[in-house]
Formats: sequence, structure tokens, C-alpha cells
Amino acid sequence: MFKVLLPIFLSLYTVTNLNSQNKIWDETEAEKTERLSWWTNDRFGMFIHWGTYSLAGRHEWVKKHERIPDEDYQKYFEHFNPDLYNPTEWAKMAKEAGMKYAVITSKHHEGFTLFDSKYTDYKATNTPYGKDALKEWVDAFRAAGLKIGFYYSLIDWHHPEYTIDRVHPQSATTDVEYRKLNEGRDMVVYRQYLKDQVTEILTNYGKIDILWLDYSFPGKNGKDRDDWGSVELMKLVRRLQPGVIVNDRADLKEYAGGWDFTTPEQFKVAEWPTYEGKKIPWETCQTFSGSWGYYRDEHTWKDNKQLLVLLIESVSKGGNLLLNVGPTGRGTIDKRAQLALEQMGDWMRVNGRSIYGCTAAPPAFKVPDHALLTYNAKTNRLYVHLLDYPLQNFTLNNMKEQVKYAQFLHDGSEIKITAPKGHWIKQELGAGDINLNLPVNKPDVEIPVIELFLH
Ligand code: GLC
Repeated sequence: MFKVLLPIFLSLYTVTNLNSQNKIWDETEAEKTERLSWWTNDRFGMFIHWGTYSLAGRHEWVKKHERIPDEDYQKYFEHFNPDLYNPTEWAKMAKEAGMKYAVITSKHHEGFTLFDSKYTDYKATNTPYGKDALKEWVDAFRAAGLKIGFYYSLIDWHHPEYTIDRVHPQSATTDVEYRKLNEGRDMVVYRQYLKDQVTEILTNYGKIDILWLDYSFPGKNGKDRDDWGSVELMKLVRRLQPGVIVNDRADLKEYAGGWDFTTPEQFKVAEWPTYEGKKIPWETCQTFSGSWGYYRDEHTWKDNKQLLVLLIESVSKGGNLLLNVGPTGRGTIDKRAQLALEQMGDWMRVNGRSIYGCTAAPPAFKVPDHALLTYNAKTNRLYVHLLDYPLQNFTLNNMKEQVKYAQFLHDGSEIKITAPKGHWIKQELGAGDINLNLPVNKPDVEIPVIELFLH
């Protein structure tokens, strides 16, 4: 008996011990839920990738993709002068699209900071533009009532002490080459730089709602939490901004308080993501086309329906959508992006009720064919998003007892609950089923939504 129990006790001891060592921040589940509540309610945010790469206009990874040395990349810094930059207009576009928060690249992988930093010369204030572009952005977005998020790249392709790794523009092929390239580079110095800059962005701009650190790539010639000093960094973050919501890319998955939400990027999750068997907060980040930074000649733009489905489907699985724009080197948001935002706004204005404050429907509700369900627990309403508009009969299985009233969400017009129509074949309903009688014509909204008031 003892022999059987001892290893169990020992492993339990190690697990508890490890957990207490792996604690960055003390917070109960309920406190965390409360801290994240505005974010899980708001569901829809704007991501903004803007930096020196916007001038190249061919992907924010252009420095790596084309292996551009610092000297040649310098021209984008020297020409950074967004004369048409008007963050108030950006904020208006975000708001009108139905977005409630925004996250901007305070620094991306190329190392350039939109903010004025004491610790580098490679910053917006030293370009012809000459101003703290981040400060202007914060002021405009905050004034518009949007929540404020900073993306900050852990990766840095400009800092002289940052060691060359496999994603660096100067990445090598052999260990010998790496050793040679990294002679004299000291990550201790870079770690301090990270702390200093994160301190700057979390102290000089008031209350910051989201921090988006990007990203770790452990393994050979990679970088992980030890390279970034992530544990110390995150303790600093929690101390400076106790209310901030942080993503999960600093390689601190096993650490309590090391992250708040997970970040599936550029794909759709099959189901609500879990960690250690528990559903976790999540936000998918997506682009309009195949690049985050402005890409003039890229043409794989998603259409309005695809974008709306991304949003609805995320909420139907309990998640958020952070949808990206890549402003141009002159500081404008190009026509394609503007149109995409406007179209989303048209839909959100009348259908936002199926998004804000909503989450996955209780599993007891069967999802009808070609539809996505979201649910608002506070109002006890269920939303059926019709991805492929049905022909008059729309059956809801096992919902007879629950449904009190049905209407289209976009215009609040009643949808009658009737027996199914049918010629030659009689459509039978199951005992618990009901049928909604839809008009033949699809309403003039990209994805019509049925709002069901439940008992
Ligand atoms: C990746 C890319 C980066 C982009 C980010 C957005 O980590 O490296 O360019 O900023 O995804 O999630």
C-alpha cells in the first residue's frame, strides 16, 4: 500500500511545489474573470501593424524575407514621414466597424518604436516625422472611447546586442556561423532593454488595457522565456498595470499569471480552446489579406461574408476577433481596408446584439444546418446566424419548450412559428421541434440573424 501511495504523494508534492514556484501573480479564477470581463463582453477589436515596413509596402517581415541588412533597411527610417496620419480618423473607422478596442504595434520585429524611448535612437521622434506617434494614437483612441492595447515585439532585428537566431534576417545555417555572428552580442543587455521599454510604454501613456507580447520560438537557435527574462518581465508588467490583459506569447504557459488569453493566428479553431482540460479565454487575430503590415501588391483579400463569419464563429466558440489593418507609410488606411471596415460596420450596427456580451450557446441547443449560434446569458436570448438563407421552413430541434418569441435582429420584425409548409410531401416535426416561417426573400443583410427570446 505504502509503496503504491508514496510515488503519488511525491508527485503531488512536486506538482504543488512547482505550482507555487510558477506563480507570477496571485489571483483567483473569479478575479481573473472579472478583470477580463470588459474584453470578453466586447469581442471585437482592431489590430494595427504600422512601422518602417509600411514604407516598403511588402509585408512587415520584409527585412527577414529579403534578408535586408541594417544599412539598406535604414532608408525606411529616413523616409518615415506619415504626413496624412490622423489617428482620430482611424479611431472613427474602428468604432464605426463596431470595434471596441484596439492594439497597435508600439514596436514590431524590425525594432523601430512608434514611441519616444530613452533607450534607443531608432524611434519615430528621430525620423522626419519627429513626433511620438504612439502618444497621438493613444490620445485619439482613448478620446473615441476605445480601449487601448500595445503590441510589443520581444523579437528585435535592430538591437546590436540581440543574438542572431533562426528568424533573424541574418539567420545562419551552421552552428559555427551562429557562434561567429553572435560573438560580442549580449542578451543580458537586451533583457534590460526589454524591461526598460516595457516600463516606458506601461508608465508614460496612462492606463493600458491590453499588452500583446510577440513572440517566443523555443528550440535550436530559437528564443524562449529565459532569453526574454519573461518571468521577471511579467512580474514587472503586473506591478505596473495590474488591470492589463496579457496574451500568451512570452512562453509562460505553465506560470500562474504568466498569460491571460491564447492567440490562434490566421486559422479557425475547431472548438473553444482549452488548457489543462479547461476552456480558456481566447482571441483570434486575422488579417484582411495575407500580411499584417501594409502590402500594396497583395490581393488575397477576404470578402465581407468571410470576415463576418470569422467574427460570428469566434463568438460562437467563446472567443474574440482582433482584425488587422496595415496603414500605409503616409499614415492612411487604404481603400480596400476602409471598405471592409465599412461593410462590417453596416452589419454590426443592426446585428451587434448577437456579438457583444455573447458567447457559445449552451450545448443543449442543437446547431441547425448552415448556421452559427451565439447566446447572451444575461438577456437569455439565442442568436441564429443564417450563413445560407433557408427556403421558408426553418426547423429548430428540441426547442419548443424554450422559445417564447422569434424575430429578425436587423429590423425587429416578427418571425412566425408555424407548421412547416410542404407540397406533395408532408413535413413532420419531432415532438419537441418548432418551425419558423421565413420570408422567401433573404433580408438585405449579409448574414441574417434570428433573435430568439427564451423562457
Ligand atoms: C506573428 C508575426 C507578426 C505578427 C503577429 C500577429 O507573430 O511574426 O508579424 O505581428 O504574428 O499575431
